[in-house]
Amino acid sequence: MSDLPPLVQRALDAASEVGMPLRREGTGPSCCLPDVGRFLAVLAAGCIGGSIGEAGTGVGFGAAWMASAMPVDCRLVTVELDETRVAAARRVFAYEPRVEVVHGDSFDELERRAPFDLLFADGGRQPGGIVELLRIGGRLVNDDVTPVDVLPADSPYREHDPKREFFFGDPRLVAAEVVLPDLRNSLLVGTRVG
Ligand SMILES: C[S@@+](CC[C@H](N)C(=O)[O-])C[C@H]1O[C@@H](n2cnc3c(N)ncnc32)[C@H](O)[C@@H]1O
Repeated sequence: MSDLPPLVQRALDAASEVGMPLRREGTGPSCCLPDVGRFLAVLAAGCIGGSIGEAGTGVGFGAAWMASAMPVDCRLVTVELDETRVAAARRVFAYEPRVEVVHGDSFDELERRAPFDLLFADGGRQPGGIVELLRIGGRLVNDDVTPVDVLPADSPYREHDPKREFFFGDPRLVAAEVVLPDLRNSLLVGTRVG
């Protein structure tokens, strides 16, 4: 149960090489949580003949979960601004021709390659600008959400959370918040229906 797919292990090694934290530390970027990766893998596994996009590669941890699970005829493109992380992610996927790691701005690069069946919005523009890049029936995922029950009493996110407001307010999405097993983190997922 704890065995990691080889690509995910390569991404973990890359994270340690370039000093990318595995968990949120302060305000800097970190890899997605393993439970987010597993959730992405579940969705990726259903993308038969499909196309997966990721905004914000980091060193490819989330992408490695998706690429490990996606069907053989599926492709994945992931976009990252930071050159060091791009180079590390390209090493992770050096033997995986179905994965393209692009250096550039996520929205511009993904827009050229749309539409997608699955999009992990994890760097750059907020999800609102990215939903047009989904095929009808495609899924949008965003993480780094804290369940309301564990937010501090004075947290402004209790009153106003742009991510939740977008996912639950956009009529093109059927959305849910999924609380992860640690009960301290959640993700948002939406299926494009219009
Ligand atoms: C949270 S990390 C990504 C983690 C990664 N998705 C994973 O699953 O491990 C966010 C990344 O987005 C990148 N980023 C920020 N703005 C970006 C943009 N406009 N275009 C592409 N990448 C961007 C950052 O450099 C950072 O590496």
